Amino acid sequence: MLSKNLILALCLVFFAGSSLTAQDFEYIGAAKCKMCHNKTATGQQYKVWMAGPHANAMKSLSSEEALAIAKEKGIADPTTDPGCIKCHSTAGSIDESLNIGVKITEGVSCETCHGPGSAYKTNTVMKDQAKALAKGLIVPDQKLCEACHNEESPTYKPFNYEEAVKIIAHPIPPKE
Ligand code: HEC
Ligand code: HEC
Ligand code: HEC
Ligand code: HEC
Repeated sequence: MLSKNLILALCLVFFAGSSLTAQDFEYIGAAKCKMCHNKTATGQQYKVWMAGPHANAMKSLSSEEALAIAKEKGIADPTTDPGCIKCHSTAGSIDESLNIGVKITEGVSCETCHGPGSAYKTNTVMKDQAKALAKGLIVPDQKLCEACHNEESPTYKPFNYEEAVKIIAHPIPPKE
């Protein structure tokens, strides 16, 4: 029969192992990205995002249309309902323990598409794509978009990836 101590020791090994191998990248919020990604010369990604659909996705949950959808589904408040905010915000779609700075009002924020930024956010890491990818950066693709742009959306419109990417484009302009 296994002794209690041996079982305890095995449990400890298991827990230590899992907490050491899984590196948790955390969500820091768009204000942190803004510090480096809002310069005219490098494309003002923050400003472009702010003017686009994703930064304003929480506002839509207060519209007449949202309230009508909510009423039909028996939802009291779409701006707090998990079934709405999971697609209309980064904060409402991630594990709360990993949120160290994303506000619900940011809507669909940078890190939903680019990955949690706590470890890649430094200049040295960001300039080296391989390093950034190892530190949590994600290169967005069609599948990532379709996690929200799908028929579960009460207002679903057919999603054309090539067109959609152009609508939200915020490239770094080529250097002269
Ligand atoms: C300390 C400054 C700094 C901060 C903070 C920062 N970045 Fe960057 N980022 C850079 C630099 C520098 C580059 C490289 C630009 C280049 O290659 O011309 C870059 C590149 C990128 C790229 C392109 C990466 C690639 O190789 O494909 C993405 C995407 C990006 N940043 C997203 C973010 C997001 C999202 C945040 C916030 C979570 C963020 N950055 C925070 C400085 C920063
Ligand atoms: C976390 C969920 C989520 C992800 C992931 C996401 N979107 Fe969206 N997207 C939304 C929501 C919600 C709206 C509606 C915003 C509004 O009008 O309030 C939207 C609106 C849009 C719109 C404008 C409306 C339309 O359908 O023409 C475009 C374009 C778009 N998204 C492109 C993309 C692309 C490209 C990607 C992937 C790179 C992407 N989205 C990933 C949630 C998401
Ligand atoms: C809905 C998804 C989505 C959101 C939200 C989003 N991006 Fe992006 N971003 C993309 C896509 C798609 C590309 C193009 C990727 C590619 O070409 O590989 C991109 C490209 C970039 C690039 C690289 C441009 C280049 O030319 O290499 C930077 C920098 C960047 N985003 C920063 C940000 C920042 C900062 C925010 C928030 C203020 C943000 N993004 C919000 C999807 C998103
Ligand atoms: C599976 C992801 C998803 C869920 C869940 C979701 N939405 Fe959305 N919502 C989207 C996307 C993506 C858009 C952009 C247009 C489209 O393709 O539906 C959007 C757009 C909207 C819009 C703007 C419609 C327009 O004019 O484009 C409203 C209003 C809205 N959603 C309300 C809600 C409400 C209320 C809930 C909860 C009952 C909800 N959504 C749940 C993904 C989602």
